[in-house]
Amino acid sequence: MASFAVLASGTGSNFEALCRALEVRHRCVLLVHDRRAAPVAGKAAALGVPSIHVSYVGRSPVETEAELMRALSESGAELVLLAGFMRLLSPAFVTWRPGKIVNVHPSLLPAWPGLGALARSFAAGERRFGVTIHLVDAGMDTGPILAQQGFDAERGQSLEEIERRVHEIEHTLYPAVAGRLLDGLDAERGIS
Ligand code: GRF
Repeated sequence: MASFAVLASGTGSNFEALCRALEVRHRCVLLVHDRRAAPVAGKAAALGVPSIHVSYVGRSPVETEAELMRALSESGAELVLLAGFMRLLSPAFVTWRPGKIVNVHPSLLPAWPGLGALARSFAAGERRFGVTIHLVDAGMDTGPILAQQGFDAERGQSLEEIERRVHEIEHTLYPAVAGRLLDGLDAERGIS
């Protein structure tokens, strides 16, 4: 059994999908959220996952990240999964756990990095959509790609319909990739 932590800011549908899909073999030891009232905190409580709020407000990112790193170290998490975490992590943070911080992004990177990717691409007339799971580096959605799954929008499909499909893909692709990485950590320890 390997352990992971999730960093999230919002609804937490990916957090929930990760916990539910991985709970048989692995353990979510911590949820960190940067918005006090984020719905994801309620999902953690319902799932019995310990959670903490780490605020970025009124202090430097360096101070906040120091608290983040402390909490993650104390949790014993071996893998850190970003799931709708709306903060850019500093080079110091991402080099602290090289290859062990993963993100889900709602586009086929390198197309449409950054915030609001889906709405921006839809507004620009894009017809091909998808999901990317990638390692996190210090750039904005630029780290090495681990997996992608795309689809073509049907004629007349609304943004909401496309968004639903994107979420469906995220909720299977992200746990599959994270599960492989966590299985790999167990394999390194000689646990199968
Ligand atoms: C997802 O679409 C993810 O790709 C993006 O933020 C959204 C988070 O959704 N980074 P949720 O909070 O997991 O429901």
